[in-house]
Amino acid sequence: MIILGIETSCDDTGIAIMEAKPAKTGPIFNILSNIVSSQIKIHAPFGGVVPNLAAREHLKNIKPCLQQALREAGVTLKDTCPPMRRVDLIAVTIGPGLIPSLLIGVNFAKALAYKYKIPIVGVNHLEGHIAAALTSSGHGISNFQFPIFKTTFPAVALLVSGGHTQLILMQKFGHPAKKSSISNGASYKIIGETRDDAAGECFDKVAKLLGLGYPGGPIISQKAAEFNGKTSINLPRPMMNQNNFDFSFSGLKTAVLYLTRDNKNELKNPEFIQELCHETQQAIIDVLISKTFKAVNKHKAKTIILSGGVAANTELREQFLNKIQETRNKKQTINFLVPSKNLCTDNGAMIAMAGYYGAKRHPALRGNSLNSITANANLRIK
Ligand code: KG4
Ligand code: ZN
Repeated sequence: MIILGIETSCDDTGIAIMEAKPAKTGPIFNILSNIVSSQIKIHAPFGGVVPNLAAREHLKNIKPCLQQALREAGVTLKDTCPPMRRVDLIAVTIGPGLIPSLLIGVNFAKALAYKYKIPIVGVNHLEGHIAAALTSSGHGISNFQFPIFKTTFPAVALLVSGGHTQLILMQKFGHPAKKSSISNGASYKIIGETRDDAAGECFDKVAKLLGLGYPGGPIISQKAAEFNGKTSINLPRPMMNQNNFDFSFSGLKTAVLYLTRDNKNELKNPEFIQELCHETQQAIIDVLISKTFKAVNKHKAKTIILSGGVAANTELREQFLNKIQETRNKKQTINFLVPSKNLCTDNGAMIAMAGYYGAKRHPALRGNSLNSITANANLRIK
């Protein structure tokens, strides 16, 4: 099966062509092409995404991205002579996200489905991020499968992006669900989430405060890596010791704001900036890891899934691995699934993968169900 994945929920236009080959142990995926047109340069001067500018850029880029993705994959939308491999399913992000951005992708996908008579399935962006962790099986962009561990579930997924920070308890993935809805009614339960800013948003806002540019995550992580002393800055770890799985990151950003106000003269000192970035990143990591393990212990989870744009953070990945290793030494085995770094941030390949499972679960959605595909900025995973 050839799947076209379309992602336009925020500021990346992502178009991918994915092949899913059936096998006894579950589908084997190959990414035939994965084009991401980033809008970083457009939004950087504003220190964050401007929704109407994002929509305008998606509109401009979506068709060239599609053409490039089809060309690279050697795949077409229509029947050709001589015959070429044709797209069998269109998977498109329907939410959550910015509505002007979502509408471009959804309407484009529906127009293609109508014109070329190709089945279409709506995908929850967050389920896409979780599906990206399939690439964890370590075969790069080809021949990857949902890793089969002795015991995989229950799993706890930590979804950390620019818009979301959620802990999701999963009992299964990619199995048929009884309820018919776009998301899998049986697999996901949100057990904790941020009460204000998302972790990625915190990286972005702190970077803006420090005049480091947008997006904040990669630049803060780079500056943090340049610091190799012992930090004398102590930022708060909000809600870390509370007995729940929720997060709050706006206080951390405010603490950085006060610190910069009190240390105006230091802002031109590169070592101070490196130290501040290091401490900000570590505060975020401490909270994320502590809350995730609290959830793992409470729900006796066998697997941790780390996904979303912030999952590209090298320190976060390494510190998760170290902590998991510690538990292994105590004879508790926890599996760890995290997407390859290039698939952590928004892309069409993750949408194609989630779309494959979505269409399997809800065959009805694959018919002429164009009316059921609508953008929903506040779509929840459930
Ligand atoms: O998942 P994503 O591409 O878009 C949303 O769905 O929001 O995530 C974007 C977020 C941004 O906040 C960005 O700063 C953050 O992911 N991010 C990182 C890193 N790379 C991207 N945060 C920390 N470290 C990184 N290396
Ligand atoms: Zn995302």
